[in-house]
Amino acid sequence: MDKIVIEGGERLEGVVHVSGAKNATLPVMAATLLAPGVYQLTNAPSLVDVRTMGKMLGVLGAEVEHHDHSITINTANCCTHEAPYELVKQMRASIFVLGPLLARHGKARVSLPGGCAWGPRPVDFHIRAMQDLGARVELEHGYIVAECDRLRGNTVHFDTPSVGATENTMMAASVADGTTIIENAAREPEIGAVGDFLRSMGAVIEGDGTDRITIHGVDELHAADAAIIPDRIEAGTFMVAAAITGGDVLLTGVRKEHCSAVIMKLKETGAVITEEELGLRVQGPVWAQAVNVTTAPYPGFPTDMQAQFMALMSVADGSSVITDTIYADRFAHVPELNRLGANINVDRNVAVVTGVKSLSGAKVMATDLRASAALILAGLVAEGWTKVSRVYHIDRGYESIEKKLAALGAKIERVRE
Ligand code: EPU
Repeated sequence: MDKIVIEGGERLEGVVHVSGAKNATLPVMAATLLAPGVYQLTNAPSLVDVRTMGKMLGVLGAEVEHHDHSITINTANCCTHEAPYELVKQMRASIFVLGPLLARHGKARVSLPGGCAWGPRPVDFHIRAMQDLGARVELEHGYIVAECDRLRGNTVHFDTPSVGATENTMMAASVADGTTIIENAAREPEIGAVGDFLRSMGAVIEGDGTDRITIHGVDELHAADAAIIPDRIEAGTFMVAAAITGGDVLLTGVRKEHCSAVIMKLKETGAVITEEELGLRVQGPVWAQAVNVTTAPYPGFPTDMQAQFMALMSVADGSSVITDTIYADRFAHVPELNRLGANINVDRNVAVVTGVKSLSGAKVMATDLRASAALILAGLVAEGWTKVSRVYHIDRGYESIEKKLAALGAKIERVRE
């Protein structure tokens, strides 16, 4: 298993290009199941999760070719409707195939994803939405077994905004009979990306990006191409890398409007963030000020940036309170940051971070994707060597993070064992 080894203390400087968004690529890939044809996705990130979704489409009968940063998907001969446990357990986002399979085949058998590193993460909203659209759904032997003659438009209301359930419903409702209204819909930029892609396939959707989305079902969709939007979480992670090292980094390929909450919080810490012709420039403070952060659905501060921001707060001037309102238990990085000398106490979904003057390098273990990013960020400023093991987590969602950081001047390398 690979390790990432970092010698802390380098100030990051230079230009980094932000890759395509994982969380836009995955639902867009699933949407190709809705209509037979050949699809070309560009600006797709080269990530383990993207390849896992490629394998899933392959099992469902699609031909998938990954080139550098593009993916060609041919869904002409998709006739299977079963998403097996072996793939779903590797990646929860496999649930995205539920809506498209039901819409195309009138039946779907999709393994339940099970728990994840930071808690149960249920899929009840996805199931209820399919039922609202007229599907009969049973849970059998760990599988969601769903059937319908043809999906029917309806009002679908989510108790809390769910990114994945909103996307699944948009996909399924695009070819349902009649109109579907999603109330309390998620508003993340990735919802807009899925909406844009479905529209280019012939869907009639309004309101994506707001909490009320209207989908007028059409008889059929057709194949289309998509250019994947930039990854706002990867961008945020590099912004924190600049901030934590007191560096000066220009991010290219980023959409500033997708990162507003993170930019605002980083500015409060003392970072200077300016829009330049070529991208977004982040100049880190000499010593970051502690600020409080509460995660919330978009446009609030993203839960996917909570761990990375905590790494910054662990060396900030003062104490900060970090509250995760999306996932009550997403704090697996805390004991590992504390091994590096951070002073963080967690009570339920609230972490109190008392900033320390310096961290000291140690062997730490990545527990999930964003936790791994937080440990790497902490390693950039820890005295001496930090060795992060189980880096397969990071490969799920960051493309060559060690190469990108090394190009900015970090002393970091991947060691194969
Ligand atoms: N929820 C339910 N039932 C459901 C679905 C969600 O109770 O059926 C709850 C969740 O437990 C959570 C809240 O609703 O408390 C929001 O979860 P959401 O459904 O929005 O999460 P998701 O769609 O499963 C996506 C991202 C996650 C990101 C969350 C929140 C993808 C592939 N994943 O997950 O990304 O944390 O939205 O923004 O889009 C990551 O990239 O590291 C990652 C975990």
